[in-house]
Amino acid sequence: MNEIAQVLQRRSTTRGYTAEPLTEGELEALLLAGLQAPTATNRQEIHITVVQDGDPVLAEIEAERNALAGQTPAENFYYGAPTVLFLSGEAAFSWTPVDAGIAVENIALAAEGLGLGSVIIGCVKQALSGPRREAFAQALRFPAGYEFQIAVAVGHKAKTKEPHTYDMARNVTRL
Ligand SMILES: Cc1cc2nc3c(=O)[nH]c(=O)nc-3n(C[C@H](O)[C@H](O)[C@H](O)COP(=O)(O)O)c2cc1C
Repeated sequence: MNEIAQVLQRRSTTRGYTAEPLTEGELEALLLAGLQAPTATNRQEIHITVVQDGDPVLAEIEAERNALAGQTPAENFYYGAPTVLFLSGEAAFSWTPVDAGIAVENIALAAEGLGLGSVIIGCVKQALSGPRREAFAQALRFPAGYEFQIAVAVGHKAKTKEPHTYDMARNVTRL
């Protein structure tokens, strides 16, 4: 099996990290993976904000989301990961959500290829598109006209789980 197929088969969401930070080389490789993702018409409209564990904005986003949702989950949104990447994109471009999805998966696969874990984080969207969206966009330095798309936390795995199972018959139709 080729290297990409192996990484695809191995990747699964990591919901528990050690405190070990990413090296500069690892972070650079993840950012490159995001930037190397294809975008519609090669618009390259996805921006990545790197936030390190301990930055108060992470807890503020979590608190805001929990307040809006009226619930506090048992687990921290970022599962103790040392680094969280927030992907924002041009709000007025119709392909932005698709392009952000491709970029975030590139990052998740690059993480797995480096022996790191990742978790794609959508639950912060409620906070980042809610009443405090402008304040968060500023705090995360989104470019003008950009809005939150998706986040991904990355780090060294403290917990592992098996990749998900799937049902070819349900999800694939061959004409
Ligand atoms: C768009 C998107 C949003 C997600 N948001 C969250 C999230 O907020 N928190 C979380 O723990 N996992 C989140 N996940 C991870 C999914 O729960 C996970 O990918 C799914 O259960 C399949 O498991 P696997 O990644 O191990 O294959 C998200 C995944 C995607 C693609």
